[in-house]
Amino acid sequence: MGFKPSKKIDRVIQRDRKVLMTTTKGSDTVPFVAAKGDGEFVYDISGNRFIDFSSFIAVYNLGVNSTGVVREAIKRQAGRLMHSAFTDYYAEEPVRFAENLLTMFPDGFGRVFFSNSGTEANEAAIKFARYLTKRQYLMGFYGGFHGRTMGSLSLTASKNVQRERFGPFAGAVHAPYAYCYRCPFGKEYPSCGLACVDYIKKTTLSKDVSPREVSAIFLEPVQGEGGYIVPPADFVRGIREIASDNGILLVADEVQSGYMRTGKFLALDHFAVKADIYTMAKAVGAGLPMGVTVARSSLGDMPEGAHSNTFGGNLVAVAAAQAQLGYLKSHMASLESQSKHKGRLIMKRLEMLKERYEIVGDVRGLGMMIGIEFVRDKKSKQPAEAHRNAVLRECFYNGLLMLPCGVSSLRIIPPITISIKSLESGLDILESAISKSNKGNLPKA
Ligand SMILES: Cc1ncc(COP(=O)(O)O)c(C=O)c1O
Repeated sequence: MGFKPSKKIDRVIQRDRKVLMTTTKGSDTVPFVAAKGDGEFVYDISGNRFIDFSSFIAVYNLGVNSTGVVREAIKRQAGRLMHSAFTDYYAEEPVRFAENLLTMFPDGFGRVFFSNSGTEANEAAIKFARYLTKRQYLMGFYGGFHGRTMGSLSLTASKNVQRERFGPFAGAVHAPYAYCYRCPFGKEYPSCGLACVDYIKKTTLSKDVSPREVSAIFLEPVQGEGGYIVPPADFVRGIREIASDNGILLVADEVQSGYMRTGKFLALDHFAVKADIYTMAKAVGAGLPMGVTVARSSLGDMPEGAHSNTFGGNLVAVAAAQAQLGYLKSHMASLESQSKHKGRLIMKRLEMLKERYEIVGDVRGLGMMIGIEFVRDKKSKQPAEAHRNAVLRECFYNGLLMLPCGVSSLRIIPPITISIKSLESGLDILESAISKSNKGNLPKA
């Protein structure tokens, strides 16, 4: 296991750079050219094998290339009918999947909108919220990521490169998230008395925008792209309270945190809080593109034609999603306990790494949605992006596929079904990469 370069790999990368428009790939991207995958392993076009700690951006929660039942369902549906113009005619499969999906949501959730991605799921939520409340503004959080189309981009406030030259945006204000390792108020939890919640009341909704004009607050239960940040439960409850007190809808963006990633179908359930609208994508389609926006029935609906699309409810994507959901429901108890058990195992190892290595500033996670933040040293907490990138590359060259997040963090998001053996091997590779970087054997920060 491990990476051996080849001309074949280089050629694809050169061709990619020549013909493709912008993606998130850049000079720090590892030269992984995907060929095939199976469970917890992925292979590149030269046959190099890697343990997957990325789930290909939290998509393969149940294993790379999904379970056999999903692949069979895709084949069956592809042989019958792939696309049915579901938003203009009728088809039973998407209706059945919507009914099935709703059983995973709290009582009172009775409406589903289908799209093809996370950003579209959020666009639909933005439009629902504005239309139904007749209020024009939105509220999001610093570090939040909700997508890159213009509506969701207005809420995204994670990195300059995502917003630069794209404004003006749809009216959205932002407030500090409970990023306790780097508290924006310089305080410590819980003695802070939740200064971030207080700030929203006293500043955001008193000076930036009137709460009577805010249609929805978009909240990631665990911030993903922004750095895998797990907030305290009373922060999340405080946001719910602010929304309820002001007639604002709470939208939980579960695009990354949902679908068992944290050990529960909805990450928000960890905080004993319910949203008014949930958005999901990534893992929903088991590897096929699918976004869902799920709303309380009591909110009502928009008139026909107000919001729709061409591919929402695509029959092959729905077949994959339905088969996966069936599998997930029948393995629910096992998936919950696997996520809890493996999540604890990872956290225990990471806590040791944090004690052992100066460059490991913070480790945090919920279930198997885990982040590790690199710093130059523990005292200054100065973000060490170069250390993070060096660790990521070193892991790759030794057969472990990972993804970055935030300024200087790494995501640890293997498939929930990963074997303990591969999990431990992956963590060994990670530790050895950190140890090298900590000694300065890798490029200096
Ligand atoms: C929380 C969250 N919301 C929305 C999105 C956007 O999803 P997509 O890339 O499918 O548009 C992402 C993607 O990373 C995400 O993590």
